[in-house]
Amino acid sequence: MQPNVKTLLLSGAQLTDAALDHLLPSPDTLPHSIHRAMRHSTFAGGKRLRPVLCMEAARMVAGTGNLPEGIADLSAALEMLHTYSLIHDDLPALDNDDLRRGQPTCHVLFGEAIAILAGDALQTLAFQTLAALPTPPATTVAILREVALAVGTGVGPHSPLPPGMIGGQVVDIESEGTPPTAELVESIHRAKTGALITTSIVSGGLYGTSAHEVSADTIHRLRTFGEKAGLAFQIVDDVLDMTQSSAELGKTAGKDTASIKATWPAVYGIDQSIRDAEQLIADAFEALSPFGEAATPLKSLANYLVERKH
Ligand code: IPE
Ligand code: IPE
Ligand code: MG
Ligand code: MG
Ligand code: MG
Repeated sequence: MQPNVKTLLLSGAQLTDAALDHLLPSPDTLPHSIHRAMRHSTFAGGKRLRPVLCMEAARMVAGTGNLPEGIADLSAALEMLHTYSLIHDDLPALDNDDLRRGQPTCHVLFGEAIAILAGDALQTLAFQTLAALPTPPATTVAILREVALAVGTGVGPHSPLPPGMIGGQVVDIESEGTPPTAELVESIHRAKTGALITTSIVSGGLYGTSAHEVSADTIHRLRTFGEKAGLAFQIVDDVLDMTQSSAELGKTAGKDTASIKATWPAVYGIDQSIRDAEQLIADAFEALSPFGEAATPLKSLANYLVERKH
């Protein structure tokens, strides 16, 4: 990992974790079970990539070199949504995993009912947090709308809705057991994973430009960057599932092949998948060319998305 990426990830994770600690109810809040379950999964040790992408998009468009004040709450809300998606992804009815972020999954420790409710509660707390952002009301509404659509039910090139995380999860689950087509895998990946990564970058852009008029071109460029980097991220997740150990991943390795999941390597093989991820990152860089040097942190993060080993 490049030293500058390490620093970005570390400092972004610290800011996000402090906001999460402040925003999540304490473990002693009644009823204890759900608040402990929410905290267990949130603080089990994620990479905090979506929060850091959000912060760096905001820094780039704000143009001051600094992070805009209060951005950690937006980052924390995105991480709550991501953690909720992982808790539900691991449930017996979905991927049925008992290891996540190197620790027992939420339902293993707290039972299925509390895990479902902890996911629900992280989702509602995320929207409560977004509604309280210190942005002008029009920006807050734009961010709420942007994020709500991204975690929604849209999937596929012919959907009237933009790609959404839940839609992607639905098609992922419904496609299990049959060898996938290229079109199917791409639409699943753009929705189940690409959408939240893209919205992290776009909402960071909306937040960072809230003090002045946001240009449609800036948002379009951030969205293109996010879509390409987000697809590359899930391709690499699929590859790592086949090439790394459970200890390295902190989650059960080899699960996708065992469950006949719709993955990129199932269609293209591992070598082509790696080449595709690298090409997507090169294409993502193109979208940021007008930002010059200011785009360096986002570009370094995008490189890390494909070079990572867990
Ligand atoms: C894992 O995401 C789930 C996918 C969308 C592939 P991450 O690899 O970002 O997981 P954490 O947050 O670091 O645990
Ligand atoms: C998860 O995809 C996507 C979401 C959680 C929305 P995966 O099922 O591939 O994620 P992992 O491999 O379990 O982290
Ligand atoms: Mg899954
Ligand atoms: Mg899974
Ligand atoms: Mg996976």
